[in-house]
Amino acid sequence: MKVIGVSGSPIKDSNTDRALKLVLESTGLDWEFVKLTDYAVAPCMACLGCLKTNRCVIQDDGIALAEKAKEADAMVVAGFTPYSTLDSRTKAFLERLYPLRHNHGFMAGKPGAAIITCAVPEDNELLPPACESGINAILYYMMEEGMNIVGAVKVFGNVPCVKCGNGDECKMSAIPMIYGQDATVGSVGINVFEEQTDAMEKAIVLGKKIAEILKAK
Ligand SMILES: Cc1cc2nc3c(=O)[nH]c(=O)nc-3n(C[C@H](O)[C@H](O)[C@H](O)COP(=O)(O)O)c2cc1C
Repeated sequence: MKVIGVSGSPIKDSNTDRALKLVLESTGLDWEFVKLTDYAVAPCMACLGCLKTNRCVIQDDGIALAEKAKEADAMVVAGFTPYSTLDSRTKAFLERLYPLRHNHGFMAGKPGAAIITCAVPEDNELLPPACESGINAILYYMMEEGMNIVGAVKVFGNVPCVKCGNGDECKMSAIPMIYGQDATVGSVGINVFEEQTDAMEKAIVLGKKIAEILKAK
């Protein structure tokens, strides 16, 4: 049995990647980690060219990635939330799984899970609920394809302004916007997945649950 984990995070060894790998490792099964920046995947053209063949007509890596998803017994999808919703790489990947739908429902019944890294705390009432919206974007795909949704993990990530070097001077810095008028690069700090014990535990439990479901099949 094999689990595929797909990360849309462009950052090398990001919080998102490490959270995803913890879920995959916790399954105790064979797994493959896919970093979408290593592939070229255009969004779906809605041309319905895949209706009869279950294969996309766009000649890029989306075809091979859809095959990987089809062959896997379970899938974990991890993204982040630029402008408060799911990043475009992860979204394009999900759209390109559309060929697996017609007549067969190749993803139906498979355990599925989501990981989202976002920078806006959930108690922020002024900004959109980025984590929620990112998770929903992944889980709606899984729901609409009839997958068995096992769960989701939210990771608290970093707004780029804490790392850009100008976060306390820039008039467009998102630091006061997200964390309050008195917040600074120093007071916000860098959020690291491994220091978020709740998210770590949820990732481990999620991996174990995926394995339990597959082994019970
Ligand atoms: C262009 C851009 C816009 C972003 N906008 C948001 C946002 O609106 N809400 C949010 O929660 N995070 C936002 N982020 C932060 C990302 O979610 C952040 O990169 C993510 O938490 C992963 O960070 P990490 O892997 O460095 O921890 C944005 C990041 C980028 C690059």
